[in-house]
Formats: sequence, structure tokens, C-alpha cells
Amino acid sequence: METDEKDMIGHRLKALTEEEKQRLEAQNSRLIPETKAQKLERDAKRHWDIFYKRNETKFFRDRHWTTREFQELINFDPEQKITFLELGCGVGNMLFPLVEEGFDNFYFYACDFSPRAVEFVKNNKLYDPSKMTAFCADLTTDELFENVPEASVDIASLIFVLSAIQPASWEVVAKNALRVLRPGGILLFRDYGRYDMAQLRFKPGHKIAENFYMRQDGTRSYYFTEEELASLFTDAGFEVLTNCYVQRRTVNFKEGVDVPRIFVQGKFRKKD
Ligand SMILES: C[S@@+](CC[C@H](N)C(=O)[O-])C[C@H]1O[C@@H](n2cnc3c(N)ncnc32)[C@H](O)[C@@H]1O
Repeated sequence: METDEKDMIGHRLKALTEEEKQRLEAQNSRLIPETKAQKLERDAKRHWDIFYKRNETKFFRDRHWTTREFQELINFDPEQKITFLELGCGVGNMLFPLVEEGFDNFYFYACDFSPRAVEFVKNNKLYDPSKMTAFCADLTTDELFENVPEASVDIASLIFVLSAIQPASWEVVAKNALRVLRPGGILLFRDYGRYDMAQLRFKPGHKIAENFYMRQDGTRSYYFTEEELASLFTDAGFEVLTNCYVQRRTVNFKEGVDVPRIFVQGKFRKKD
């Protein structure tokens, strides 16, 4: 198969074509009414739990890029004990590749607010209760601290999770991430970037607010700029180590597939 995958890393926002501008404009012709938006917020956990009931562990691909992209994970002294926390772990697509790679000096915590997702993590054949704890927690509350002590985590990750949370709650999530990290601890971040093709594809009737949409199944997604993330995490008390757009193109010439994706990726450090 002639597949070519390329990542381009940069700070420039994608430039829109005229047709793309019109598509974005058309999304404003039918916005989600306020009462429905409030109901989506109330039902957020239920929608994700139903998502996992329907898709089980088959939807997201294992995130094998994690160690390549986030050097912090492999730059530690192999003797040093590391506490790693995955915030919004889903069914463990980031966690288990790390376990498989033999990160033996790591203790893993993984949490999600979907009870079904957490059950899938616990039922994975690689789940070892002596090396990891999976638990339910809503990141917009302080439930996290019922399982993980404050200031105890070396590395935390938020991978495609903040986009699923309403913008009004991001500050709480960022503060919780800060609170759970030890001074000098690092937050690894990856999520959908502004004008990703999935954003441009939404038809009228799906937009909740600027850059925030409802998918068919009731889950929601936001498309970030790097500036928004820099101010969110800096205001919460982090220092920005890296923060950029990653443009990924998967081109398969034979099948005529050319899928350009835009993500934002960053590393934020809790100040000492
Ligand atoms: C797109 S999935 C990503 C899952 C996983 N991080 C991965 O990369 O495969 C988003 C996850 O965020 C979780 N989530 C959304 N809002 C949350 C909240 N307020 N608290 C905890 N988890 C949440 C969902 O249940 C879902 O598992």
C-alpha cells in the first residue's frame, strides 16, 4: 500500500480557502438552542458512556506515537520511579502501549468519567493492579483527589479530552492538573486544532458556540488555537515548554485518500 504519513509542526493557523470560509459561515445558519446545549452539558457523562457501550474498545487507535512525540517519557533515568496519570483515559489507548513498551519504573493512574471506559481498562489483559490504578473521576470536579494525592504526579496527560469539555470548565480542569502534579511535573497535551477537517465538515445544526460542536452521538468537540492553550495553562500556573500545531497528512495514492488533520500539541510544566 503506497501510504505516506507526514507530520508538519508549526505555529501558523491554517489559511482557509473561500469554500472553507463559506462552510464555516453556513454552520451559523442553524445553531444549537441554549436549552439543548445545557442538556448536552448535563448529559455529557451519559453520552460518553453510551459511546463506549456502542464502540467498546474499537474506536480509538492505540497511541503509539506518545513516546516519540513526548520525549519526557523516555528521558527519565530508568532507575527513577515515575508516577504517570492519564486524565480522560478512555479505554487505555495511551496507557497500554506504554505498559507494553515496558515502562517498568512507572506507576500508572488512569481516570475517566465514563464507568464503562474504566471497566474496559480494568478488563484489559495488560491491566496489573500492582502497577496501576484505573478509576472514575469527572475532571471538572475534585473527584480526582479521592484516588491520587495532591502534588504527587511526575507526568500527566490530557489527550483529546479537553476538546470534549465545555470551555467554561477548562479552567477547573487546568487547575486540577496543576494541583495533582508535583512542582516541576509535566502535563502532556494533544487535541484537535482550529480548522481541522472534522471542524470544517460539521453541517448546520451542530454548532454550540464558536469552535464548539455536537457530534451525531451527543459527544462534543472543540477546536483549539495554540494561543488559547498558552493562556489557559499559563493562567493556571504552568510554564509553556512547547506548544504548536501538528499537521498530519495520510496520503494513499492508490486509494485516492488524502486526509489532512490538524492537532495542537504542547508540554506544560508546573513551576517549582
Ligand atoms: C476522545 S476520548 C479520548 C480518550 C483517550 N484519552 C484517548 O486518547 O484515546 C475523550 C475522553 O474524555 C472523557 N471525558 C470527557 N469529559 C470528561 C470529564 N469531564 N471528566 C473525565 N473524563 C472526561 C471521555 O469519557 C472520553 O473517554
